[in-house]
Amino acid sequence: MTTTREQPIVILISGSGSNMAALVRAAERDGWARRYGARVAAVISNRADAKGLVFAREQGIVTEVLDHKAFANREAFDTALGDAIERLGAGGEPPLVLLAGFMRILTPGFVSRFDGRLVNIHPSLLPAFTGLHTHQRAIEEGCQFAGATVHRVTAELDHGEILEQAVVPVLPGDTADTLAARVLTQEHLIYPRAVARLLAG
Ligand code: GRF
Repeated sequence: MTTTREQPIVILISGSGSNMAALVRAAERDGWARRYGARVAAVISNRADAKGLVFAREQGIVTEVLDHKAFANREAFDTALGDAIERLGAGGEPPLVLLAGFMRILTPGFVSRFDGRLVNIHPSLLPAFTGLHTHQRAIEEGCQFAGATVHRVTAELDHGEILEQAVVPVLPGDTADTLAARVLTQEHLIYPRAVARLLAG
């Protein structure tokens, strides 16, 4: 398939950014520019010390830090974030916005501004274990399986259409950290796969 208009992708992170890196590597490896006209236009972090920013800069990707603590309230931050996304993702189709470990609850106004173009990855088999501490909770509940979900973002936290899921076993002796590491390897596979499917239409 050839696309005439560019599809900018803006990735939002708060921390290590390994999912962002997996997306950037997949875009390069699988030729998203050639196949879908898609390019990672920018990486935005709400934390200046997010490790993922280093990788993004090394790849020559435009980065921006928008510190949520500098804003009076959630609405003001989300408005500035939306403005940054539109500015950095300008020049083609409206940007696709990928949340990759972005540790902020989004306002309904922000979600409707990017309606249909917001995707997130969550480290549980949704609809189980929305919110935080998913791996510890799965272990405490005695789950035999855990996993991750790529889903569209709606105003309700960790809800929205499921696009991809991956399942891993919970093993005897697992801690939240060992389980998280096992899940994360799968996140790096399903997030790029889900995005490629979206781009392919
Ligand atoms: C991942 O487990 C993701 O599912 C969750 O936060 C973690 C972020 O990891 N939302 P990273 O920053 O992509 O390495």
